[in-house]
Amino acid sequence: MNLTDRPRRLRADGIRSLVSETDLSASDLIAPVFVDATTEERVPIETMPGHERVPVSEAVERVEEVLETGVEAVMLFGIPESKDERGTRAWAEDGVVQEATRRVTEATDAYVVTDVCLCEYTSHGHCGVLEENAETDPTLTVKNDETLDLLSKTAVSHAEAGADMVAPSSMTDGMVGAIREGLDGAGYDGVPIMSYAAKYESAFYGPFRDAADGAPAFGDRRHYQMDPANAREAMREVAADVEQGADVLMVKPALAYLDIVRAVREEFDHPVAAYNVSGEYAMLHAAADKGWLDLEESAAESLLAMKRAGADLILTYFAEDVAASL
Ligand code: PBG
Repeated sequence: MNLTDRPRRLRADGIRSLVSETDLSASDLIAPVFVDATTEERVPIETMPGHERVPVSEAVERVEEVLETGVEAVMLFGIPESKDERGTRAWAEDGVVQEATRRVTEATDAYVVTDVCLCEYTSHGHCGVLEENAETDPTLTVKNDETLDLLSKTAVSHAEAGADMVAPSSMTDGMVGAIREGLDGAGYDGVPIMSYAAKYESAFYGPFRDAADGAPAFGDRRHYQMDPANAREAMREVAADVEQGADVLMVKPALAYLDIVRAVREEFDHPVAAYNVSGEYAMLHAAADKGWLDLEESAAESLLAMKRAGADLILTYFAEDVAASL
């Protein structure tokens, strides 16, 4: 045998790390944190082992735990004390995310990103204002344009509380433009927007809906989140957000959508974020529990794949565990 090309030569210890093409580091990661106004104590999230909902009084402590692992950024999700038709607690000055943001930004150096959506705050669990007959007519869900103002108010209230970046996740057409306008008008032109630009209607959000108590009370999100069948449409969605002023472009979920991560990376120059969602976390944990997978290795390999596909940053429930092992 006389093979001239032997890639295995570069897999030897000593050289393999020199030629490695992709790196995963703690500074790539954002850790989601759930703050719950309905509890005085930490409540474990059953579907997401190792994660908890924490009361506002423990938000700082929780974020400090994240920082200790080397992860420098968190994404705050809120569970409000009460819900109503329009989700008014989403933009309340004394709302759960606003309160937690104030405390965390005052007490820590964490980079604080806030999720901007209404589904945790509305009694019906949808991501916006409902059409009149949405409950009985399956062809109806949220009113797009009437939701924009509420999202903008929510984002501004987060910025007022000190949020470093806002991340709208409701898949409302025009949400980035409306939020940009709101932020600029209120003097927050320095607060960037990380848009959930290509967010699919995915079965992989199941565990999160438990965690954040944001499952729709009826129907589903297929009229506003993207059809998993579509890739070209994702480019339209992302282009629209870029035009409206998005600073970071997110693809969600990550693992089943790495083709979309790659396509966004190739088509746009903005930083690309991948959201390694709750179901992706839960399935590795479930398999590891049974002894079928090594949790640490399969988690690290998943995140590396997202970076290899083109993600600059990753939102992941594995952030702390992976960072601690790097
Ligand atoms: C809110 C929101 C959701 C997630 C992030 N922001 C739920 C949804 O769209 O149903 C899902 C995150 C995850 O599954 O980890 N709209």
